[in-house]
Amino acid sequence: MNAQPDPAHRFEQNRFFLKDTIRQSIDFSNTQQSRQVPAPPLQKPCPPRASRTDLPDGAASMARLCSMGVAEAITRRESVRSYSSEGLTLEELAALLWATQGVRRVLSPASALRNVPSAGARHTFETYVAASSVEGLPSGLYRYLPFDGQLAELSLDSRIGWRAANACLGQGFVAAAAATFFWTTIPSRMEWRYDLAAHKVIAIDAGHVCQNLYLACTALGAVTCAIAAYDQAACDRLLGVDGDEEFTVYIAPVGKR
Ligand SMILES: Cc1cc2nc3c(=O)[nH]c(=O)nc-3n(C[C@H](O)[C@H](O)[C@H](O)COP(=O)(O)O)c2cc1C
Repeated sequence: MNAQPDPAHRFEQNRFFLKDTIRQSIDFSNTQQSRQVPAPPLQKPCPPRASRTDLPDGAASMARLCSMGVAEAITRRESVRSYSSEGLTLEELAALLWATQGVRRVLSPASALRNVPSAGARHTFETYVAASSVEGLPSGLYRYLPFDGQLAELSLDSRIGWRAANACLGQGFVAAAAATFFWTTIPSRMEWRYDLAAHKVIAIDAGHVCQNLYLACTALGAVTCAIAAYDQAACDRLLGVDGDEEFTVYIAPVGKR
């Protein structure tokens, strides 16, 4: 009979991921950036035939819709798993996309600043929106193009909410959301600079994005709930990403109370 693994040993590898020990083993003179390999694009290219929807200006939308200050938004923030049939306006969606991934300033072809912090300003995330009930958007899957202020339509699908819920291991409340945010990472954007130290900071970065979503939702009268328990292959399939160079890392359904 096999002996039970020593628990300390069983967790060792995953605990190591949370530490920064790996940094000491990296030869930073030999990263892709140091070798002058061109940086990956700041934004995944839009499929050439995808139709695009112009979004209202995110900053202006947020300013107009925001009904409370940051202290109240922090106090009121909570995970909500029950949504009414009231949808989101396109302006509300634009404000939430801006709060979570909006671009502030392009610094160079290799880096830009956004409304969330990111290690080395590498910003590895793409935002997909499974929209079931957003004013002016037919039900379907979209991708945010933060550098263009647009949404790219990837597929129209009247059952996108159910598909999203199934991909979230059957967490049924996802099906009732007006829109579900799926964040993927393109890790090569971070690996280009930080090599093996990239992956922990990608995970940390994801937290900033979702926290901004919580606070922005609270401030404009919507609600959300972070989701990290999901079927990896099913989500990647739903979004049409390869699961290797780009894959799902975090999800958040959004709706109204
Ligand atoms: C990283 C992370 C993953 C989570 N994953 C799920 C999830 O898969 N399903 C779910 O219903 N809630 C999920 N939650 C929500 C937590 O259960 C919730 O934040 C917690 O119960 C505290 O409640 P509060 O957010 O209202 O303070 C997640 C939250 C975080 C931060």
